[in-house]
Amino acid sequence: MSSFLAPAKINLSLIVRGRREDGFHEIETRMVPISICDRLDIERGTTGGGLTFTCDDPTVPRDDTNLVVRAARLFCDAAGAAPDLRIALYKVIPHGAGLGGGSSDAATTFLALNTLFGTALPLERLASLAAEIGSDVPFFIYQGAAVCRGRGELVVPEPFPHRLSLLLIKPPFGVPTPWAFKQWRDSQEIPGVSYAAQAFPWGELRNDLERPVFEKYIFLAMLKAWLLAQPETAGALMSGSGATVFAVLRSGSDGPALRTRVLSEFGPDLWCREAEIGILPVA
Ligand code: C5P
Repeated sequence: MSSFLAPAKINLSLIVRGRREDGFHEIETRMVPISICDRLDIERGTTGGGLTFTCDDPTVPRDDTNLVVRAARLFCDAAGAAPDLRIALYKVIPHGAGLGGGSSDAATTFLALNTLFGTALPLERLASLAAEIGSDVPFFIYQGAAVCRGRGELVVPEPFPHRLSLLLIKPPFGVPTPWAFKQWRDSQEIPGVSYAAQAFPWGELRNDLERPVFEKYIFLAMLKAWLLAQPETAGALMSGSGATVFAVLRSGSDGPALRTRVLSEFGPDLWCREAEIGILPVA
């Protein structure tokens, strides 16, 4: 049995350029992996030919709609191999969070099976299989910071040599990505809420999906404004289509104090985690 880590991501910037003929939106986004990971345990050759999939989170589908199962079947078809696999997924990354959890699990499945089957398919080939699963999946194939264009599947790795400390906050609800993109064009800014790009020596924080999402989920706009007013916060942004809002901290040692204040201010129902960019755990 081999273990593989599937990191979450955040979007440091996400620009929506417009709606395309195929219904997707043309975007340009800078994404970075962060130090919060799901884990996949994979064993080959013990099931007698079939694929068994388990997950410790009962809210995750276990059938053929699961992105890990879809990735495993797609890989085995492409490699001409029997899916004689036992896969167990241990979830840490919440879903409906804009953190790419399901996409990362799928990408990690491709990378893991490429190793376990000794197929040595090039990353470009894995990325094109990954694009069949979802727009964010190819990003995770390259296992590093990147700028992604098209519907998100055109990945240009771009190192992000900065160590930043984050505090991530997700309320108990999730935001459906298709809904967020659909609302984008006709959405309006809420007066008094700051959507402007925040400039830093390492780049900028900006997310064009805040406009449609904040309009319906006003709590997220409030959370961002509250984070920006805290002395530990250098910048704050929603990740992807939400519902996670993150703070970039002035110092890593600020994380515990700010986390305690978030939970006492907004209640213990929030998912609230410290994380890092630039330090990835090892499986
Ligand atoms: O590719 P993925 O399955 O992650 O996308 C989910 C949905 O989000 C798409 O079906 C589409 O409605 C929307 N989307 C979009 N533009 C993108 C990415 C996703 O409109 N660039």
